[in-house]
Amino acid sequence: MTRTKVFGGNWKMNHGLAETEAFLQDFINTKISTDCQVVLFPPFTNLHLMQKYLKASGIAYGAQNFYCEEKGAYTGEVSLAMLKELGCTWVLTGHSERREIFQESDELVAKKTRMALEAGLTPMVCIGESLDEKKAGQTQEKLNRQVRSALEGMSESDVLKLTFAYEPIWAIGTGVNASQEDAQEGCKLVRTTLANLYGKSIADQISICYGGSVKPGNIEGYMSQGDIDGGLVGGASLKADDFSTLVNNGVK
Ligand code: PGA
Repeated sequence: MTRTKVFGGNWKMNHGLAETEAFLQDFINTKISTDCQVVLFPPFTNLHLMQKYLKASGIAYGAQNFYCEEKGAYTGEVSLAMLKELGCTWVLTGHSERREIFQESDELVAKKTRMALEAGLTPMVCIGESLDEKKAGQTQEKLNRQVRSALEGMSESDVLKLTFAYEPIWAIGTGVNASQEDAQEGCKLVRTTLANLYGKSIADQISICYGGSVKPGNIEGYMSQGDIDGGLVGGASLKADDFSTLVNNGVK
């Protein structure tokens, strides 16, 4: 089964306008494999630069967040329609920093994932266990719960539009990346849950990325695992040459 390889660059709250412009000028002049989908997730304030530089480049971009209402009195929030105006085609949902720091519940993640699909955007749904949960042997239960909740009531055709990112919380931004085996096991758990809900042939078509201290030097190992189809990358997506090397190493 050949699945689309997906490499997401999650910039989090990094890069202002000048840094973003410098990144994009470098990035679009670098040879990047076309045998995959690359997606940048910059802060909202840089999305207009993505629109300017990435148009017709084949490189997609999207937002790290949005609010789950169409419009109105929601001070500080951004809607899906606003993101679409800026040419976004992807959004992250369920990133552990949103779940942990901003108290986003499984229910809210499910609602936002459904809304993004309805708006015609591709959600990259993030899930992952904490170190305590891992130590307590609760990884399977947590991933199963997060995946099932995100998919509640979702049709097969919608599920096929999703990409997942398995990101163990203990490996994010820590430099302590998961072993290839741990990453494979997490991604496989996600695929098994998908298969239990929708059947194997659907589950086999859905791209599942690993995230958590992915670097140009370790992506190849992750990609050699049967259920890992890409990476969601934080720190190593901030420099154009690191990220392009990472993507090219990933599709080797
Ligand atoms: P990291 O972040 O690559 O810096 O660990 C990954 C993520 O949070 O998506």
